[in-house]
Amino acid sequence: MRNGELRLNAYRDLRVALLGCGSVGAQVARLILENGDELAARIGANLTLDGIAVRSLDAERDVELPRELFTTDAERLVQGADIVIELMGGIEPARSLILLALGGGADVVTANKALIAAHGRELSDAADQVGAQLLYEASVAAAIPILRPLRESLAGDHITRVMGIVNGSTNYILDRMDRFGESAEDAMKLASDLGFLEADPTLDVEGFDAAQKATILASIAFHTEVPESAVYREGITGVTLEQITAARHAGFVIKLLAVAERLTASDGTDGVSVRVYPALIPREHPLAAVHEGKNAVFVEAEAAGELMFYGAGAGGNETASAVLGDLVSAARRHVVGG
Ligand code: HSE
Repeated sequence: MRNGELRLNAYRDLRVALLGCGSVGAQVARLILENGDELAARIGANLTLDGIAVRSLDAERDVELPRELFTTDAERLVQGADIVIELMGGIEPARSLILLALGGGADVVTANKALIAAHGRELSDAADQVGAQLLYEASVAAAIPILRPLRESLAGDHITRVMGIVNGSTNYILDRMDRFGESAEDAMKLASDLGFLEADPTLDVEGFDAAQKATILASIAFHTEVPESAVYREGITGVTLEQITAARHAGFVIKLLAVAERLTASDGTDGVSVRVYPALIPREHPLAAVHEGKNAVFVEAEAAGELMFYGAGAGGNETASAVLGDLVSAARRHVVGG
């Protein structure tokens, strides 16, 4: 369904603005257009894709989309929207556009881990002030539902630890080195060909990407604000094939792990420790079986015990699934809220 198209149902229209049309944005646009009727029936409202804000109108896209949807005027697009989907990445102009959207009462869905890790509190406060929603399930571990389970399903429990493989490209590199004896350089080239790496691969291999995701996980799991600067971070650039081989012979596998733990001091006060580092995982632990670009998050909670969430942690379509989930969730609240 497209803007302006005659509809035969009696649903109201919700105007959706998409900011960014990279590998995730293009798939999100495709899914909204292709599955419009199904989504409308599920939501009780039509999702009208009002436009897609991009830097260049002529750039090549992963998906063929109607040219008239594209605009370079992101601000104008945001101002008319009920729901804004931000998939530009980076801090600015994403932050200003989200604040503009929230200021106008629109709900916002984003996959922007760097932005949420650095400015999550500011953006949540802006959303709370106007009763809007800020949803960012896709910012951590792409297709894997993990933020909503932590925030909602486990809201009545006491989470003690969250431990995850949350960066697909470094897992791919370490896995290739471990299982096929490949060099780090060759494995990294393959990870790049698969599109797992960030535009700046330093963010992956030095652990920044995993640290951003760990910040978000810890903040939600422990109902607190964990600043990115408080996260201990060590990437995989120091890990050698020799170390990986020696670990294997000793019954371990090396994985880049993000760990967030609740700590209780001797005086009873609670604290949180968050760290990202290459860790030795015993071969029999479920996290040792997370291969290639997959992610997994292992959660320990007092009543629930151990839980593991597993799946695709990167990829355009896979990340788009989580974005669409948030979009439907935001749209449903519009319908319920009138
Ligand atoms: N570069 C990221 C990764 C993409 O490798 O996991 C998904 O956030």
